[in-house]
Amino acid sequence: MLNKQIRQFPLLYVHQHSRAIVGYGAYEMAGVECKMYGITNALLVTTGLKGTGIIEEVCNVLKNAGISYTIFDKVTSNPKDFEVKEGAKVYIEAKCNGVVTVGGGSAHDAGKGIRLCVANEGEKTDLRNFMAVLNPHYTTRIPTYKVVNIPHVAINTTTGTGADCTAFAIINDTEWVYKLILVVPGIAPSVGISDPLLMRLQPNHMVAWSGMDALCHAIEPFIGRLNLPVSHATGLRAIKLIAENLREAYANPWNEKAIKNMAWAQLIASMSYNMGGGMGMVHGLAHMVSVIKEKHHGLTNAIMMIPVERFNMVAAPEKFAEIATAFGVDTRGMTKIQAAEKAIEEMEKLRNDVGITDISLKQFNFTDADIEHTVKWALNDLSYEANPRNMTGDDIRKIMKSMM
Ligand SMILES: [Fe+2]
Repeated sequence: MLNKQIRQFPLLYVHQHSRAIVGYGAYEMAGVECKMYGITNALLVTTGLKGTGIIEEVCNVLKNAGISYTIFDKVTSNPKDFEVKEGAKVYIEAKCNGVVTVGGGSAHDAGKGIRLCVANEGEKTDLRNFMAVLNPHYTTRIPTYKVVNIPHVAINTTTGTGADCTAFAIINDTEWVYKLILVVPGIAPSVGISDPLLMRLQPNHMVAWSGMDALCHAIEPFIGRLNLPVSHATGLRAIKLIAENLREAYANPWNEKAIKNMAWAQLIASMSYNMGGGMGMVHGLAHMVSVIKEKHHGLTNAIMMIPVERFNMVAAPEKFAEIATAFGVDTRGMTKIQAAEKAIEEMEKLRNDVGITDISLKQFNFTDADIEHTVKWALNDLSYEANPRNMTGDDIRKIMKSMM
């Protein structure tokens, strides 16, 4: 008889990761990829990317492949529930049979949200029904969901998001002022196309913000309590690539080698959390700052990273010591704690070097009421699951007040 005495909960979920195409000129594959997945009439979802010429280029690629499209460019940074619902309405009215997203995480996550709505009750879909929280644990709800089987070609223009290949859609609930994390089978794009040719058009600050986001994607699962061996491998490699390339990519996004290495770093880093490593409270708290104050996801992660990781360090000093070596620090002769502290120093130095020097929450007029709103939501957020150190509401208050 099967001995069920040792039963693990939560079970570790390795989420679907998309196929990926990486390289200069990869965006030209968008047409054949659409055809392969049966997309003949696409909803092209974007924040606009005005002044870059990227949307015009992608439209030409689709036209040349004989694919018709309707542009939906009403998505904003931190995509909102009502934008996703409007996108679903346009998709249905235009009788689309697939989604193409062009941009960073906002475009890709909005595209995923639109597909989720179309696969359910269109614009009437209640996104809250699909939100991943810890109580009730999200994995217990997954078997009740309809699989999202609408094809999605995601063309990635930033070096940080990872959202072009992951099974999570992060959408603002504008009434709750909370970021819903939607985890539904099939929601990962069919293919993610990461093209350094487009990524080099990012402004310098965007390279910094999105690159720091990618660094958090690598670090949080690496030190996380889900302790997924896959994330140990991907995390360390991504950290090394970011440590070695983010400064140059930020200073000059046209530096071919640096931006290409960042394209790989963001993809590898996204595997770390998506393949089951989970996230941590840098993201947990950054999500709240960005939803309350409408700030860029990467910037808020960069701002929360050092205070939260200083708090976390005592829970996983060996892991932090390994991070120091990935940053190129010679840790021989150091104690575990000395090496771990070096890792935090290196993260901070990198963040400063890419121009993110003001990490006060005061700059966003963050108030005590905002801290209480954060406490109310953050501890049931999926991001908390993998955080290496237990965190209480008072811990959150202390961390955030120290940044006021
Ligand atoms: Fe992120």
